[in-house]
Amino acid sequence: MKKQLAALAASLVWAFGAQAADVKLVVNADQPGPVIHRNIYGQFAEHLGTGIYEGMWVGPQSKIPNVRGWRKDVVAALKELKVPLVRWPGGCFADEYHWRDGIGPRAKRPVKINTHWGGVPENNAVGTHEFFDLVEQLGAEAYVNGNLGTGSAQEMAEWLEYMTGEGKSTLTDMRRKNGRDKPFRVHYFAVGNETWGCGGNMRPEYYADQYRQVATFLKTPENNRPKFIASGGNDQDTTWTEVLSKNIRHNFDAIAHHAYTFPSGKWEGKGPAVGFPEAEWISMLSQVSKIDSTLAKSTVILDKNDPKKKLAIYFDEWGSWYDPEPGSNPGFLVQRNTLRDALLAALHFNVFHSHADRVKMSNIAQMVNVLQAMIQTSKDKLVLTPTYHAFALYTPFQDATSLPTTLENNPVYKVGATEMPSLSATAARGKDGKLYVGLVNSNATQAAELTLQVGANAPKAAKGRLLTADAMDAQNELGKPAQVVPRAYEAQAADGKLTLKLPAKSIVVVAIEG
Ligand code: AHR
Repeated sequence: MKKQLAALAASLVWAFGAQAADVKLVVNADQPGPVIHRNIYGQFAEHLGTGIYEGMWVGPQSKIPNVRGWRKDVVAALKELKVPLVRWPGGCFADEYHWRDGIGPRAKRPVKINTHWGGVPENNAVGTHEFFDLVEQLGAEAYVNGNLGTGSAQEMAEWLEYMTGEGKSTLTDMRRKNGRDKPFRVHYFAVGNETWGCGGNMRPEYYADQYRQVATFLKTPENNRPKFIASGGNDQDTTWTEVLSKNIRHNFDAIAHHAYTFPSGKWEGKGPAVGFPEAEWISMLSQVSKIDSTLAKSTVILDKNDPKKKLAIYFDEWGSWYDPEPGSNPGFLVQRNTLRDALLAALHFNVFHSHADRVKMSNIAQMVNVLQAMIQTSKDKLVLTPTYHAFALYTPFQDATSLPTTLENNPVYKVGATEMPSLSATAARGKDGKLYVGLVNSNATQAAELTLQVGANAPKAAKGRLLTADAMDAQNELGKPAQVVPRAYEAQAADGKLTLKLPAKSIVVVAIEG
């Protein structure tokens, strides 16, 4: 009889498919973790293509409405995201930038060639004063990247004196003459960028020595001391974390790390931003796990070399990087932005939250018109990208207290030989006291559902917003700006269970009630 029942059960499984186990997310609200620093939602704005010029800066004489040269519409949209921090002026551009070119009357500033990005003229209309005007309009903190490549300790030291000096000196008087009496508040200052590559092709040991020497001369008034940042490794390379954390001591607060994601996984032939197959959807999203493992490795290194946890990791460049938009200047890094980018961003956030102990800043590359931008502009018009909406959904996590989660029976999502967990989750207690949960369903074709438990209890309801679209490469465009926009989302408990339904390829961020 037993044998017959087993055979019957086997034939039912064959006929109807195996019963998937219940997916459950448990949030341990009584075990608060580290605070998710708001600067994890930081932005990067480089003198590159139309990222600054046209995209944000149009100049005070422009017909496009602006405040002292900065576009009103762009600044207003960025303010909605509560942009906490802006990194400037690069990137690779930083190691060719000489700050004296960008002060004084704009008409008299030298015009240079932006040799790194497209070989176009750089008229230095945006310089130190304009940058600080932007961050002050946004209510954001300033991250200034110093020039080690073609600059010097003296040039960086003098820039800091110009920006932060209080007393009377030739440089502080020059700042006053240029219209700024009180010092600028410099929150972060980096010594070079990508010094393993465009910043000078150095070895980590050589850079560590360079940093030690330069940092000796980086002085500011104590109340305006920035956090000093060493330029670190790329992608999965943690050698820089090891060497820098072992060899630098003075004026050293953080190590920068960069990692971009290409669909092909290769620098040459990155892959298209739109019109891609599902294999390239999953290849992008599954690569975020490499960032998770790199951060785990970096944490082990830092816990060994910096047990008192004085050093932070600033993931100050990340995002998608595709083949350039056909017809565009390849040096301008113009690319479309789709639902895939929004999910990529949300997966990064979930990973950064889970390393909030060490990761205190991240900067998406870049803010406007360049790479995985928040905003794309065309003359006086703008479009908010799917990535913008992912950032908008996640704003409650800024300065929230992370909470551990366990995802039980997370289904596997597989396309060809590539697989990844279908679901990714994060939870935190927001500054407003509410419990927030962020969820990503990476599966491009299958919806998912999960029950939510807080400790041993089932909450009563979840309310928030959902971001999804019909196509993997759905995008917002001029004339069609609302193809990928958040919708209201709500779930109520039934039979003592709160079940959240996640459409295929979606992001949900909810506040939990009860
Ligand atoms: O964001 C574009 C470029 O990518 C940056 O200038 C550089 O730091 C990185 O290689």
